[in-house]
Amino acid sequence: MKTDSKKYQKKTEKEIDKIIGKMTLDEKISMIHGVGLFRTGAVERLGIPSVISSDGPMGVRADFMNDRWIPSGNNDDKVSYMPSNSALASTWNPERAYEMGHVLGAEARGRGKDVILAPGINIKRDPLCGRNFEYMSEDPKLTATLAVPFIKGVQENDVASCVKHFAANAQETDRLMVDEEIDDRTLYELYLPAFKAAVQEGNVYSIMGAYNKINGYHCCENKNLLDFVLRAEWGFDGTVISDWGAVHKTREAAQCSMDMEMSIFADFDEYKLANPLKEAILKGEISEETVNAKVRNILRMMYRLKMIGKEKEHRKQGVYNAPEHRKMILRTAEESMILLKNENHVLPLDAKKIKKLVVIGQNAAKIHSDGGGSAEIKALYEICPLMGLKTYLGGNTQVQYLKGYHVPDKPKTFDHNWQADSLDDLKNTDVGQPVRDEVNQTEMQRKGEEERLAALEKEKTEIHEKNKVLFTQAVEAAKDADAVIFVGGLNHDIDSEGFDRSDMKLPYEQDMLIEALLDVRKDLIVTFVGGSPVEMPWRDKASAILWSYYAGMETGNAFAKIIFGDVNPSGKLAETFPKKYADCATAKNGQFGLWGKIRFEEGVYCGYRHHDRQRIAPAFCFGHGLSYTEFAYSGLTLKTEKGRDVKLSFTVKNTGKKSGSEIVQVYVAPIGAKVNRPDKELKAYAKIELAPGKSGKVNLVLKQEDFAYFDEHLHAFISDEGDYEILVGASCEDIRLRGIVTLS
Ligand code: BGC
Repeated sequence: MKTDSKKYQKKTEKEIDKIIGKMTLDEKISMIHGVGLFRTGAVERLGIPSVISSDGPMGVRADFMNDRWIPSGNNDDKVSYMPSNSALASTWNPERAYEMGHVLGAEARGRGKDVILAPGINIKRDPLCGRNFEYMSEDPKLTATLAVPFIKGVQENDVASCVKHFAANAQETDRLMVDEEIDDRTLYELYLPAFKAAVQEGNVYSIMGAYNKINGYHCCENKNLLDFVLRAEWGFDGTVISDWGAVHKTREAAQCSMDMEMSIFADFDEYKLANPLKEAILKGEISEETVNAKVRNILRMMYRLKMIGKEKEHRKQGVYNAPEHRKMILRTAEESMILLKNENHVLPLDAKKIKKLVVIGQNAAKIHSDGGGSAEIKALYEICPLMGLKTYLGGNTQVQYLKGYHVPDKPKTFDHNWQADSLDDLKNTDVGQPVRDEVNQTEMQRKGEEERLAALEKEKTEIHEKNKVLFTQAVEAAKDADAVIFVGGLNHDIDSEGFDRSDMKLPYEQDMLIEALLDVRKDLIVTFVGGSPVEMPWRDKASAILWSYYAGMETGNAFAKIIFGDVNPSGKLAETFPKKYADCATAKNGQFGLWGKIRFEEGVYCGYRHHDRQRIAPAFCFGHGLSYTEFAYSGLTLKTEKGRDVKLSFTVKNTGKKSGSEIVQVYVAPIGAKVNRPDKELKAYAKIELAPGKSGKVNLVLKQEDFAYFDEHLHAFISDEGDYEILVGASCEDIRLRGIVTLS
């Protein structure tokens, strides 16, 4: 019998009820909280195993001891290091998303995991959020359409995807306690759609409640979010798992749809949904049915994963470090890199003409897989850009590498993120328990933040002194080479869980170095590896700029193939790169990175929606990305079908000399809208591969919901009658075709 058939589901529900009927209160309670850092309690008597989870979005994290944040230290947990969600989103390719989900699911199962804590689908509200590299985009449509195939790819391996962090986990500052004031329209239009798609289209088996509060209530104790939106409106019947330490109050968490409490602490019996809940039930303050409901949701997930029941012997076994995983990772990395600028066809380089290549910049030789917080990975290997270039060129080309700028060794204080801090305390005490009331948690984070900022200030002098020598060496070397590639950007000392970036500038005085290099080499190829936008004040002077997010174990190979033209770049920005931080909506309203409370005053106007409305030109807009070939768009036709569906068709032609892929984007712009609405919003896109001179037809459908906005009074999405402009473009600013449809 098919496991998703109605009959099977009905049978399963009956079996679940039977199992619950046989369970003692203690057994039930053991299932709804961690009894290890990544494990819940088993009920062996009834054949119910523990649920074993693991981070995270960039591969399956290394194993920890059960009750200590100390890595197991074995060498059997090295894995495929996958492109970050930001890199994946830059492919704008649901097929790649599906493949990456498949790789992650297979590796998680191969490592014996039941739940993989990924993907991260929070909307990037502000470019400084420390965890933006783990998230996909500033746009809900793009995020949703990539999250769905990703989840399907994971779950076909009999592993649950746990989408995170529900919801609006938009900043790391004060992340445990910050209270976000968000109106319903903003929530429903911007911060919830990807989660809704994960539930309704991706059929995700689990979802992680976020640390933050929304409108006064912690997300893991938020009845509106969990009971009303998630369960009642969207029909979610899977497992809600708390972020690690995100449950604060027993009664509140027990009486809403929070199913499984996980935390960073080793006092498992004291978790809010452990002994405190048991006591409340025994006193009659909370009904046992609240626990039954949670157990039911967990057991349902277990049946789906074939952890229990008759299908058990058919559960997939998974595999990690499979050679085909690396091929898929390489393909995604290649599609993820974004050519931001390429004047005078500086790129691609002709390898045959290069006898001496100078490579400058710390990110050429840097390994990124081992950082960033819970997304860190023990990679089987990671090919850095320098290694990619060298293996591509072979021994007959001289490749000279210079650091270019100084990166201080990461001092201890940088390890201050909340998870890590608590880990240190755990390591250092006999009892293994840091003090754990909320005030202390906030204080710990605040103290850590102060120390971090003080350390950063101190470092500035050290960097400046060391850079004097490094800059001179780099500039001298740059003069004497056939080509010069700068590889700079960010790293996980900056793009990290636990704190936000303090500004949008390139660290380590890289701007100064780039300016100096551009003075001697107009043809300097400026490339970056990083997880979030940076200001590029010298960008008008540069001829070529290539951006790569953290792109996984094959980064260097993909990088070299793009530099030398074996791969034609096709990635496009899934987020706006503003000229300067001050241009952002959140910089203007000052409602980001505050402690205590933040108000989402900008409403739906963040990212390109804000830049459009305020007529602020970004450095590189949402959807931007160049190719080594050119594409022409023509012949837009629009047909309104079946009531309000709009069928869209147009032709794209490769007018250049190289094969390439173009990501075409469709934006809907209401004309004379009754309510305040963004100038335009992404509603469809496609990626089309074309040989030189060839044309292809793109057919897309816009549904009624693509014209809708959320009406708070009706508490529903509605699409008004009237005219809408349909904009077809190569980016959100490079609109090539226009048409008008009338909804009546
Ligand atoms: C992070 C989650 C992660 C969890 C378990 C938390 O600190 O916010 O994303 O899955 O830890 O490591």
